[in-house]
Parts: sequence; structure tokens; C-alpha cells
Amino acid sequence: MLQALAGHTVSPPPIWFMRQAGRYLPEYRAVRAEAGSFLDLCYNPARAAEVTLQPIRRFGLDAAILFSDILVVPHALGVNVWFEEGEGPRLDPCFTPAGFAALARMSALSRLEAPCETVSLVRRALPPKVAVIGFAGAPFTVATYMLAGRSVRDPAALRRFAYDEPGAMRDLIALLEEVTARYLIAQAHAGADVVQIFDSWAGGLPEALFEEFCVGPVVRIAARVKEEAGVPVIAFPRGAGCLYPRLAGHPAVSGISIDTSVPWKWAAETLSPLATVQGGLDPLLVVAGGAGLDHAVEGLCAAMADRPFIFNLGHGFVPETPIAHVEQVIRRVRGGH
Ligand code: CP3
Repeated sequence: MLQALAGHTVSPPPIWFMRQAGRYLPEYRAVRAEAGSFLDLCYNPARAAEVTLQPIRRFGLDAAILFSDILVVPHALGVNVWFEEGEGPRLDPCFTPAGFAALARMSALSRLEAPCETVSLVRRALPPKVAVIGFAGAPFTVATYMLAGRSVRDPAALRRFAYDEPGAMRDLIALLEEVTARYLIAQAHAGADVVQIFDSWAGGLPEALFEEFCVGPVVRIAARVKEEAGVPVIAFPRGAGCLYPRLAGHPAVSGISIDTSVPWKWAAETLSPLATVQGGLDPLLVVAGGAGLDHAVEGLCAAMADRPFIFNLGHGFVPETPIAHVEQVIRRVRGGH
């Protein structure tokens, strides 16, 4: 994985999956049932390390991603965050003037010590050839949840906020940028070999907002992580379409994770000269399985052959993913049948 991120072609490519730890695994559901709430699991380093390691043990993947969530950052800033069973995240509104002032005064990093402890437990448990990936949400995506207070279908409310209250928007993004940079550097110091920044809601933005609130903070965070911790950064601006090269082309961005809609040939020709391409496989095709899945895995690997590439999905596994289909993907990528 680190060789691929350094720009070398590795064959077969390294492989890991977004949401590789999660509800599709019975061993995850067992630990999750003992842990109490989802956030309790995130803040329990021994249990979080255990579920981080489960997909490595089961599938022999090339990288382990810290088990946590992007919403631990607003939680650390003092926002009340919880997960409704079967529904997803909920956050208390924090956009009253008083709420926002309170946020900025919080000293955030102490609540983020537990995930860093998880990183160090995972790093110690694995051989050096398995990379440990730290992560955080990009400021724009975390702000989307902070404004909506829950999962949304698109970040329209945050776009309105950016136009209506540009000063408050800049203050919020700047605050998240600072905490996120420090958090990712702390994860690298705890043992993460690489970090990924998830900008799940970067898609569909006007160019000006994309540049100011996605590219700007992500590249400044990446530059700090690279300079202060010396680890490579993967950016995942999901849905960015033809704006993908704006991030991939920045020298602080080593890897660029492509979503399900990015054409593979375009990624190979346009993004690959700029950064190591990661991802692309539709997670729902892994649910479907069959010959269509084999065909897609081979097509993706062929499109990226002779280029630095990290095999992954275009978005995370869904809970109904059959384990046998995950094994099928890994076998195909590694040249078996
Ligand atoms: O294996 C891994 O990829 C590492 C763990 C990880 C989780 N969330 C665990 C999780 C990572 C990297 C994330 C990132 C994350 N969290 C993102 C960015 C990636 C993306 O999916 O776009 C976002 C937007 C979130 C916020 C979030 N967390 C939502 C919207 C939800 C509810 C949806 C769902 O799948 O239930 C979560 C919950 C969550 N995060 C679960 C897991 C395993 C399921 C919770 C459970 O076990 O009950």
C-alpha cells in the first residue's frame, strides 16, 4: 500500500475496502452487541482495535482502517452526538450564535485520545506489511452533518448557509480544519502509516464553493499532515466529477479515492498522472455477485494495470453484503478464480 502511494506499480494491487469492519460481519455484530452504543464502541480502544482487526484476520487484506467515525470530531468539540439504532447519526443543533461561540472555546483533542490509542493497539498487533490507515471527515462533510443534525440526501442546507452567512461558514470550516489537522497528525504519531480524508458530500457543488470549502481545507490539512507527521494522505471527494483533478493534482495529496461514478479509463488517463488512484468498484455490485462482479473487478484492474493503484470500493460496504462475494473479489484481484 505504501509503495503504491509512493507512485510505484504494485501487482497485484494492494486491496482494502471502505467499511470493511461493520454489520456484514457476524464477528462485528457480536462485539457491537456487547459494546453498548456505537459511540461506546468507537471510544473503547480494546474493542475498537478488535473490530479493526477482524477483516484483516478473515480476509488477509493489505490495510486496516481505524474503527471510528467522522462524527467523533464534532462530538469532541462539545456537540451532542448519538446514533439512533437503524437510522443513523443525530447531532444537536449548534448553529445558534451562543452554540457556535461555545464550540470554538472547547479544547477538542482530549476526547480524541481514545481513537489514537486504538491506532497504536492496531499498529502493534499487525505485521509491518499491513498498513494502518487513520482517517477523519473533511471539514465540509462534517459541517454538513453539524448543520443538518442528521444524515441528509445532499448538502443543500450547508450551501445556503455558505451564501447567507459567509463569515460564520468560514469560521466553522476553519475551526474544523484546525482540529482535523491536529487529530490526523495525532493518529500518525500513534502509528497510522497513511490517513484518508472522507469528503462524502463534496459532490454537486458549484466550482467556487468546491474550491473554497473542499479543496482549500483538504489540501491545507494534507500539507500539514505530510510535513509534520511524514505520512501520505488519500483524499476522497465523493461525487466531485470533473473537479477530481483539483485535489488529485495537489502535491500534498498522494492518493485519490474514486467514487462509483468515475469512469475508470478517465481515472487512468487523467487522475493517475497526478496521484495514486484508489477505489471505484460499486459496493452494490458486491451485493449482487456473480459473473457481473467478476467482469467488473477484472475491468477495473485492467484499466489500472501498469499504474499505481489501490483496489477498493467507490463507497462503503452495505450491511447486506455477502461475505462469499467479498472473498470472490479478493481472489479475482489477486489472480485466482
Ligand atoms: O471500516 C471502516 O471503513 C472504518 C470505520 C468507519 C465508519 N464510519 C464506521 C461506521 C469509517 C471510515 C466511517 C466514516 C464515515 N462515517 C463517513 C464517511 C464515509 C461515508 O460513508 O461516506 C460518514 C459520512 C460517516 C457518518 C455515519 N456513520 C453515518 C451516516 C452512519 C449511519 C449509516 C450506517 O451505515 O449505519 C454511521 C454509522 C457507522 N459508522 C457504522 C459503522 C460501522 C454503522 C453503525 C453500527 O454498527 O450500528
